[in-house]
Amino acid sequence: MRQIKIAPSMLSADFSRFGEETKSITESGADLLHLDVMDGSFVKNISFGPKFIKEARPYSDLVFDAHLMIVNPWNYIERFAEAGADIITVHFEACKDRLKDTLKAIKGLGVKCGAVINPDTEVSSIKNVIEECDMLLLMSVFPGFGGQKFIESVLPKIQEANELIASTGKDIDLEIDGGITCENVSAVKRAGANVIVAGSTVFKEKDRAAVIERLRTL
Ligand code: DX5
Ligand code: ZN
Repeated sequence: MRQIKIAPSMLSADFSRFGEETKSITESGADLLHLDVMDGSFVKNISFGPKFIKEARPYSDLVFDAHLMIVNPWNYIERFAEAGADIITVHFEACKDRLKDTLKAIKGLGVKCGAVINPDTEVSSIKNVIEECDMLLLMSVFPGFGGQKFIESVLPKIQEANELIASTGKDIDLEIDGGITCENVSAVKRAGANVIVAGSTVFKEKDRAAVIERLRTL
C-alpha cells in the first residue's frame, strides 16, 4: 500500500493572503501543496501563473504540485520549474500525441512529472505514457472550479488506473482531484488513490490541521 498523502488545493485559499495561506497549510500537516493553474482557454476559469507560485515558494518547504490546466503546456513548463514546482502535471486532453514528449521535457528540467485525465477520458489513453510518470492524476470533477460534486463513476477508473500502475512495477503515485470530502475519502483510498487533493473541504474548516488529519486517517 502506497503512503497516503494529502494535497490541499490552494484554489480555495484567500489569494489576498496567499503567502500566509501557504504557510498555514504547511504548518497544518499537508504533504503536498496542490496549485491549480488555469488559463481561461483549456478551462473556463483563470487562476494564477508562475510568478504567483514563485512568490509563495519561500513560505513552504512542501512539495509544490502544479496542475496545469492550460493549452500548449510545453510552452510554460520551464517557467513553472523555475518558479519552484516540484511536480508538474499536464492534461492528456491538452497534449494529445505530444503527451509523452511533454512529460520527458518536464523530467529534463529536473522536475517530477505526471499525466492528468478528465472524468470522461479512458484510462487506456495514457497507457503508453505511464512508464514516464511519477504520478497519475485522475479528475473526479470536470476541471475549472473548486467546490464541485465528486463524480461517482470515477471510482472504477481509480481501480483500473491502480492496476495499470501495478503492472509497471514502479512506484507511481495515484492522485485524485475534485469533490473529495470526509464522506467519500475512504472510498477513493479503497479504490487505490494515495494522493488526495482537497480544496473546499480543507479551506471551509477553521481547524485545517484536524481536517487534514481526518482525510489522512479516515
Ligand atoms: C479543479 C481543480 C481542483 C479543485 C479541487 O479544476 O483541479 O484541484 O480546485 O477543489 P475541491 O476539492 O473543492 O473540489
Ligand atoms: Zn487540481
